[in-house]
Amino acid sequence: MKINRVKGFSGEIKVPGDKSISHRSIMLGSLAKGTTKVTGFLTGADCLSTIDCFRKMGVDIELHDTEVTVKGLGLHGLKAPTDTLDVGNSGTTTRLMSGILAAQNFSCRVNGDASIQKRPMKRIITPLSMMGADIKSEADNGCAPLIITGSKLHGIHYDSPVASAQVKSAILLAGLYADGETSVTEPAISRNHTELMFKEFGVDINTVGKTATVKPAEELFARDIAVPGDISSAAYFMVAAAITPNSCITIKNVGVNPTRDGIIRVFEMMGADMTVDASSDTTGEPVADITVKTSSLKGCTIGGELIPTLIDEIPALAIMACFAEGDTIIKDAAELKVKESNRIEVMADNLSAMGADIEATDDGMIIHGGRQLHGATIDSKLDHRIAMSFAIAAMNADGETDILGAECVNISYPSFYEDIKGLELK
Ligand code: S3P
Repeated sequence: MKINRVKGFSGEIKVPGDKSISHRSIMLGSLAKGTTKVTGFLTGADCLSTIDCFRKMGVDIELHDTEVTVKGLGLHGLKAPTDTLDVGNSGTTTRLMSGILAAQNFSCRVNGDASIQKRPMKRIITPLSMMGADIKSEADNGCAPLIITGSKLHGIHYDSPVASAQVKSAILLAGLYADGETSVTEPAISRNHTELMFKEFGVDINTVGKTATVKPAEELFARDIAVPGDISSAAYFMVAAAITPNSCITIKNVGVNPTRDGIIRVFEMMGADMTVDASSDTTGEPVADITVKTSSLKGCTIGGELIPTLIDEIPALAIMACFAEGDTIIKDAAELKVKESNRIEVMADNLSAMGADIEATDDGMIIHGGRQLHGATIDSKLDHRIAMSFAIAAMNADGETDILGAECVNISYPSFYEDIKGLELK
């Protein structure tokens, strides 16, 4: 995909549905009694993998455009799949579904693409095994393929070494089936979409500080879910408007759950010209319209408890930092190394290729802002967030940028390039 500088843009857009909430709507809908209707569902490849896996376990799931109907089988109604459950590129599918599979009355195999086969699964195998789960890594390397044999589970308290919603959610989902209370304490609060959706489906869940506690469930009750726009997808347009001259964009109906809105805090710290108009909640999730205009930006430090609230937005924020005056320090973000690619290394390599002044560190990166970027060949490593981040960098670089593997945006934002072309470009 070849991309050139733009002079500016304006417009109003709606980004696709939130990926995390879309995954959870299929999982909880499948385990509920009754029919769950989902609107605004993200039809990115990752969420389609979740649909495919639950269909393979006997759930009737119909998808029309962005509307999904899930005919739940109840907490104990899933059927043994006859085939490997293929999670594709999706870490969320792998980890959350493992928590459910650990408690079924069948065995199954879970596998995905080359990237998934390198991502750490010990982080869920360890706590789920403490609950009594039987999960084996086929190659004995702590990664997928996983062989999961359903077992009787008991409640535990787990002190998680990482702030990860995927780990927390896997344990809480297993906790639905346990013989007692299950709780997870995190070092910093990660996204709480599972907890919020549990409440909607009638699960007894309680959060105090950094600890979420779930009671075993007898039944989940189907609920309609309106999925808000994904702030992680909105991030590309927010950053693009802030760094491109003569630009203004409004993104409608964006999910601004406080465990996800760290990018808004960083925009404030960097002095971005932004307004956030809160509207009503949809299915327990706060929603807002976000407007961003061309901004005069200054560097800042991003670290600590802010990191889990913007972990997927760091590649886009690193691009923004290149256009800010002064240094931006991103720290406490070692988790970036175990995403769809090693996002510290890949951002540093590709931004250096474009002429940015960036140093990779052990737990993040330091960007000295203000250097003019120039076009380069960018290897996305088939990581959707890398491809989209460099598309917006390319719109502000001299010469042409060629993004290799650009089609990987279909993982979370299939219409990304069309939505850029749909802006009123100057
Ligand atoms: C997600 C949690 C985050 C995030 C991922 C989606 C989720 O991962 O990066 O894109 O839906 O729970 P971690 O839990 O590994 O931080």
